Amino acid sequence: MATESNIPPELVTALRQARHVAVLTGAGVSAESGIPTFRDAQTGLWARYDPEDLATPEAFQRNPRLVWEWYAWRRQLVSGAAPNPGHLALARLERLVPRFTLITQNVDGLHHRAGSSAPIELHGNIMRVRCSAEGTVYEHWDEGAELPPPCPACGAPLRPDVVWFGEQLPSDALEQAWNAATRCDLFLSVGTSGLVEPAASLPRLAHARGATLVVINLDVSDTVRERLFSLHGRSGVLLPALVSAAFPDAAA
Ligand code: OAD
Repeated sequence: MATESNIPPELVTALRQARHVAVLTGAGVSAESGIPTFRDAQTGLWARYDPEDLATPEAFQRNPRLVWEWYAWRRQLVSGAAPNPGHLALARLERLVPRFTLITQNVDGLHHRAGSSAPIELHGNIMRVRCSAEGTVYEHWDEGAELPPPCPACGAPLRPDVVWFGEQLPSDALEQAWNAATRCDLFLSVGTSGLVEPAASLPRLAHARGATLVVINLDVSDTVRERLFSLHGRSGVLLPALVSAAFPDAAA
């Protein structure tokens, strides 16, 4: 497993010299905050449901209350969680490189809470809801007897402000992510299984356009190839190690 002591020196140099660093994070980056990754077995009451059967417009149409309650459960998990050293290292990296773009597939808002200034949330944010009919977004709502609660303006059911399977990603967020992947000189892909498009294409695009690609995952083996570094390990260990190795004088 890679640790601070064996971060490849070529990677340390590449990060130190990078002018634009782009980062894509997935559920793995929040695992050490106690939030189960999307494809982990679910626990308790929800163990018998497959998330891919709950996070769809069809599921919401079929059983809006079930989908609402699943998100309410996840919202509760997120509210009780705190950013981990991986989130904090990314917030620190943002202040150490000339240009920085953070793109996340996570809906938990932990990057923001860690101090990252403008994470691009490709899949939305679980702490917001929106009207399922006319799209108005709400940050506060009343959770009364009727679930999902009705939109205060039109009475249609409220839904989480996240992207479900089969739905389009917000086009401005996707465009910003695409631009960053095209223009960055170093791209970090952290804690994502790379199974869900279009996010999964971003690291490949960056690498094809000449960026150094760094993959951090529990599920890879350590390898170094032309402009490609795979680091096997926990993001909560490797990200702080990488940032400290490249910027040893910056306060943690
Ligand atoms: P997944 O749950 O598919 O993958 C999490 C990845 O993180 C796996 O590859 C794990 O090996 C890795 N991992 C777990 N713990 C880790 C740790 N401590 N450090 C480093 N890596 C770790 O999650 P995503 O790739 O984020 O989309 O899933 C992408 C999208 O698929 C989600 O945003 C969601 C889902 O379906 C929507 O809801 C639209």
